[in-house]
Amino acid sequence: MEIIIKRDAEEASLEAAALFRRQLREKPESVIGLATGSTPLRFYELLVEMGRERVLDTAHAVTFNLDEYVGLHPSHPQSYAAYMRAHLFNHLAVARSHIPDGMAADIPRHCAQYEEAIRDAGGIDWQLLGLGSDGHIGFNEPGSSLGSRTRLKTLTARTVADNAAHFASPGEVPRHVITMGVGTILEARRCVVLAFGAGKAHAVAAMAEGPITALVPASVLQMHPACTLIVDEAGAGALQRRDYYRWVYENKPAWQRP
Ligand code: F6R
Repeated sequence: MEIIIKRDAEEASLEAAALFRRQLREKPESVIGLATGSTPLRFYELLVEMGRERVLDTAHAVTFNLDEYVGLHPSHPQSYAAYMRAHLFNHLAVARSHIPDGMAADIPRHCAQYEEAIRDAGGIDWQLLGLGSDGHIGFNEPGSSLGSRTRLKTLTARTVADNAAHFASPGEVPRHVITMGVGTILEARRCVVLAFGAGKAHAVAAMAEGPITALVPASVLQMHPACTLIVDEAGAGALQRRDYYRWVYENKPAWQRP
């Protein structure tokens, strides 16, 4: 796993946006996996700015979101469908976008179709991930099968509390979600994980330096052949080898830079 430590969330988001732009330059019809939440908000703003300045062309890209709340209609302001429209799709054209349908009548069938749609698109080339403070990726909470596929999951009380800020009250946060599985995520050709702030520092260290365990689903990314973790200083606070990660980045060959 490559670990990039940036001064703050702004610089980290700029790095992620540069990696994204390189991906689309190399393969304009890339299949992109997208995350929601607070962490990628600045990243999406940067994509929109680059689109406006015509240094980024997403018109041929196909996107798949990681997850959606069960029971929220796409028009619900807290649905991830609404989030994606507000922060990206209303401003930047893509060829096709996919988000799990939280209102699906037959959830197992819908999940199988979502997996099939990813396969039919050729698999995910570039997957953006946020990191839950409990070590989740997508909404694969601790204890999730490391080989899991898109399915229904029940959120932990901690994730409900973490996400309550976006709802009128914690009671309104749905308990269930549809999420790509850990196995689905691992099949992406490249993963880029963003984690900012001291509240993520322990999850970051457990993910990158701890044992691979279902108790920290993100830790399985240690097995991924092309995973980049981009953190700010606060998010890097509990990493034991942070000086080495800085050293590696400073000495990165020019051809490896975005
Ligand atoms: C959202 C998702 C989640 C978030 C994670 C971090 O699509 O998949 O794994 O990335 O919960 O959320 P924030 O960024 O709000 O701290």
